[in-house]
Amino acid sequence: MDYAATTPVDPRVVEAMQPYWTEYFGNSASIHGYGRDAAKGLEAARGEVAEVLDCHPSEIVFTANGTEGNNLAIRGVAQAARAAGLGNHIVTSPIEHHAVSHTVEQLCESYGFEMTVVGVDETGLVDPDDVARALRDDTALISVIYASNEVGTVQPVAQIAELARSRDIPFHTDGVQAGGKLDLDVKRLGVDLLTLSAHKFYGPKGAGALYLRRGTVLLPALTGGGHERGHRPGTVNVAGNVGLAKALQLAEADRPSETARLAVLRDRLISGVLSAIPDSRLTGHETQRLADNASFAFKGCEGEALLMALDLVGVAASTGSACSIGDPEPSYVLTAMGLSREWALGSLRLSLGRWSTKEDVDHVLAVLPDAVERTRGLGIP
Ligand SMILES: Cc1ncc(COP(=O)(O)O)c(C=O)c1O
Repeated sequence: MDYAATTPVDPRVVEAMQPYWTEYFGNSASIHGYGRDAAKGLEAARGEVAEVLDCHPSEIVFTANGTEGNNLAIRGVAQAARAAGLGNHIVTSPIEHHAVSHTVEQLCESYGFEMTVVGVDETGLVDPDDVARALRDDTALISVIYASNEVGTVQPVAQIAELARSRDIPFHTDGVQAGGKLDLDVKRLGVDLLTLSAHKFYGPKGAGALYLRRGTVLLPALTGGGHERGHRPGTVNVAGNVGLAKALQLAEADRPSETARLAVLRDRLISGVLSAIPDSRLTGHETQRLADNASFAFKGCEGEALLMALDLVGVAASTGSACSIGDPEPSYVLTAMGLSREWALGSLRLSLGRWSTKEDVDHVLAVLPDAVERTRGLGIP
């Protein structure tokens, strides 16, 4: 019940990666044959990713993970805009992953950038009109998450992209939870930058990709050699990127059937939980949500204690609330969606994936009501 945290690597992906550790182990930047063999695999992988995203291979920058992709996109565009005298202002949402929000916050607190955080409604949706109102002449970047990792709400990314385009402002979306689950066609989406991470779609950890639309100006977040067309220096993780490409291809091929299958399980989970547990609510949008995400809030129930109770009965899940000794912090995402502390402390994310079955869902439905009741009995500070 925690596929949104990470996934096992597909055996076909392991097989595709295998030769790049031992046989084609060369440094893809080397001129000699070993290097050329590695570069061939790397460029094939880049082409495969570009095909899924419907972009040119040169627009794919391989990174180490989603965190790095988000950092590169945000720091890179913001700092390039400032260096060119184009602006100092970033527009974002209050439900971003920390890889985005902490990056923007640091740029503001330590480097003199300014930000506007547009609100979300009670389902976690950003209103593109609010984004429009937040734009200024000095806006250098808009960054809004494609699909929420916590509540699964899918944002109107194409609408925001259209708006950004009309104002000539680069638009980045954190697509880490969208890989293999939502349309990644960057032409249809209209985004300028999109972050992916392989371990969320049955690829390896340590491999990510950033789509960077040609013409988008970006200062590298790291300095070093000229790898990845100067955008991301460092000897390239060829095996990892071969794995990322293979995993993305496989996940994209299965996407229609898999999202339909998971949506049925998700809806069984949602209706079962809401009907069995008093003072419970679905969090996130009812229909504009990821097929694999069933997230809830339980009034008067502390999230991390609930996770421990669930772990004891064989259920691995996540919460948006965080515990700092005796003083639990409510989920910032649910707080931004207007939930009170009493509700936002009790968040639970159940996320489904390739090996999830109806039996798994029924096991959760059998054990969750008691786990919530017992956790409620512990009280909240
Ligand atoms: C929406 C979102 N963005 C970014 C990340 C960070 O990705 P990574 O773990 O590959 O650094 C995650 C991971 O949970 C995520 O869900």
